[in-house]
Amino acid sequence: MSRRKFLKTAVLTGCAAMVTGVPLATYAIFPALKDNPGKWIDFGSVENLEPDNFKMLSYEFMVKDGWIILPQSGFVWARADAGEQIKIFSSTCTHLACNVIWQAETQEFICPCHSGRFDAQGQPIAGPPSRPLSILEHKVADGNLQIFMKV
Ligand code: FES
Repeated sequence: MSRRKFLKTAVLTGCAAMVTGVPLATYAIFPALKDNPGKWIDFGSVENLEPDNFKMLSYEFMVKDGWIILPQSGFVWARADAGEQIKIFSSTCTHLACNVIWQAETQEFICPCHSGRFDAQGQPIAGPPSRPLSILEHKVADGNLQIFMKV
């Protein structure tokens, strides 16, 4: 093969690889790099919330993570105070991410993993947690409670 023919073949092969390879690589890699900020989940009528008591609201939805679609489930704690102010807490303990459980008798959230406790404002009052429970963004649309869930 002549030097001229070899260089011509190499340049054409390189160009072909660029034309097809870059879009294919972008198509394959981009979904894995895409940021997934979260989604609004509808929890039904806001009338279902109990005044001055936290209610467990369960959720389950599908999350696309790169090329994989996985179910995500859990629960949050919601309360409608007398002044119609709604408060939504994540159920995730700020120590090592176990789920906290509301105890109406003592007006505390209890974490069963390491006996962490939070008051009704989500502030840590005993055990290892040092940060308050996360407050979740929410809105009422057409009478329904919607909560923004990070995924
Ligand atoms: S995970 Fe909740 S106290 Fe440790």
